[in-house]
Amino acid sequence: MPLTSESLAISRQFCCIDDISLIKRVVISLQSGLVVILGSGAGTMSLAVLETRPTLTIGLLTVDHKEESLAYERESWKAACKENPFNVVQSLKDSSQAGRDFTRSVDFLVIDSDHTEWGVEKDLRAWMKHIKTNGHIMLHDYTDIYPGTKISADRMLVEPMWKVITTEGWSRLYQKVR
Ligand SMILES: C[S@@+](CC[C@H](N)C(=O)[O-])C[C@H]1O[C@@H](n2cnc3c(N)ncnc32)[C@H](O)[C@@H]1O
Repeated sequence: MPLTSESLAISRQFCCIDDISLIKRVVISLQSGLVVILGSGAGTMSLAVLETRPTLTIGLLTVDHKEESLAYERESWKAACKENPFNVVQSLKDSSQAGRDFTRSVDFLVIDSDHTEWGVEKDLRAWMKHIKTNGHIMLHDYTDIYPGTKISADRMLVEPMWKVITTEGWSRLYQKVR
């Protein structure tokens, strides 16, 4: 049986089933564009994207500062029979540096890298400007276990530009409304 994002979530516990469902719902709503995941980890979230994207015109970029995490993510794709997926790129970089170097627009950004207040602030500063109008940010670990994540998000992802769409699993989903 090929690996699935749900079984990986249960075994590695980097995210929960409700996080996976939320990612899949957002990706299914896209017809084209770019999904970016900061923090490859076990590849759970990226596998959810690969399982769901309705067309291969949806690109995926995953970023991690550890080569071992990127290698682990590739192993997960392989175990899920999605080896060398089309239109998918991995980047070995600090997640905020990747945002500062980035020049494209993003439809859906998942932040799950440095969970400190300063780390999340740096990621948001570097990536917020790349999100398209009506695009989404999913901030993972928006929970009391990671107070820094909440503090930075509550300070930076505010109206009128950002709207909270839902808080599910361990995540909060925002939409850029203007
Ligand atoms: C909780 S894990 C991510 C889990 C992953 N999203 C998944 O679906 O399995 C966090 C990852 O973020 C990476 N990370 C932490 N700080 C980072 C930073 N400043 N830049 C890039 N990656 C970072 C870690 O190496 C680790 O792989």
